[in-house]
Amino acid sequence: MFEYKLTDLIKIFQNLRINEFSDFLEHSIDVAKLSVSIAEELAPGKFSKSIVYFCGLMHDIGFLLKEIILENIDIDKDYILNYKTLASIEELDKKNFHSYLSASVLKYFKRFIPHDYLTAIENHHKEDNELIYESDEVKMLSKIFHVADKLSVIYRVNLESPEIGMEKMDEFIDNCGFFKTSIKNIINDDMNYLYLFDGNLNLKRYFNVDISLTLYEFMDFLKLISMIIDFRSPYTLNHTVSVSNVAKEIAKEMLDDYDANLLYMAGLMHDIGKIKTPLYILHKEGGLSYYEMNIMRKHVGETFRIFENFCSLKEIVLIASQHHEKLDGSGYPWGLSASQLSIGARILQIADMYVALREDRPYREGMSVEKALGIIEDMVEKNKLDKKVFDTLKNLTKEKELIKKYDKFIDEIEIDF
Ligand SMILES: [Fe+2]
Ligand SMILES: [Fe+2]
Ligand SMILES: [Fe+2]
Repeated sequence: MFEYKLTDLIKIFQNLRINEFSDFLEHSIDVAKLSVSIAEELAPGKFSKSIVYFCGLMHDIGFLLKEIILENIDIDKDYILNYKTLASIEELDKKNFHSYLSASVLKYFKRFIPHDYLTAIENHHKEDNELIYESDEVKMLSKIFHVADKLSVIYRVNLESPEIGMEKMDEFIDNCGFFKTSIKNIINDDMNYLYLFDGNLNLKRYFNVDISLTLYEFMDFLKLISMIIDFRSPYTLNHTVSVSNVAKEIAKEMLDDYDANLLYMAGLMHDIGKIKTPLYILHKEGGLSYYEMNIMRKHVGETFRIFENFCSLKEIVLIASQHHEKLDGSGYPWGLSASQLSIGARILQIADMYVALREDRPYREGMSVEKALGIIEDMVEKNKLDKKVFDTLKNLTKEKELIKKYDKFIDEIEIDF
């Protein structure tokens, strides 16, 4: 049965500390721990440690989305400008658009994150005089995230000369008014200082009650992570959401609803390991060299590694990480054969191949439905892919367009000036 906890999300999130996301993750972890410490020092027991932690961890998630979206605008405008609201993002960020985006993402979890916390995340770059109309609670929480954010930035910017960092922190704290003494207590405690900035989650120290998640909350989180991975490159944009959709549609025809959801989740997960594939390999025009191909292929194993320790995900992780296996044993990373490949894995293999053929690649244009089906049929005849799954897909393509876009999420964001 599905059994997911908030700490699972936190650990998965931490596993993304790779490539261009390292600094971002370090800052997020600092802010999670600093926010909890400050909240506890100011008003012990008033706020939920676990929720403050999670909100602190996610406070800049909108920044990541915005950065990725903006970077992609240079690579391929047409792809990106399809999103109605994005054309004006640069303009919007003058008004701290990323904090709106973060709060919107956290609304996925509004069942257990009280509204005040969401508002505080939205306010995390505002100064005191911009918060006068907020309730006392929101004011306090907003300031907690704001101060935690600043302290982490000062620390990270001065990593090379920590003594200067400390001096700057002191200057900043001196201007923190009501918060001053509490923050001084935290920062001046030698042990605490080390734990706060060590880059580890330190859940035992800063997190208390775990929270059970619904299947949909977990799916939304996976969707968010997959979006971050897909947005790295115009060639992977929308790939994950399309594969998930195709896999789910095939599963609905062949299996029951429960399994169709499972396939959707495995789809969301399948290429998350690509976070470790360098961008120059993803963007390379022309064929990849032997070694580049080798690096590219490692993304499946990486997906497996990111999720392997979560027992409740076992079944889905296996399906997700077998999407490049083939029935005749010629696939990777394990070279499994037909008897070892479940129907779920067979569905995802075909869904992934179909979507990949339909999409543009740096070295070729996307193929038509017929051409893509033809190539897959060829592989079915060579005993590499499953025939029943292929027949189901073929029928589905007659009924509907299976390729999807990440538009729902973007449309849901409310922007008010
Ligand atoms: Fe921020
Ligand atoms: Fe931040
Ligand atoms: Fe893949």
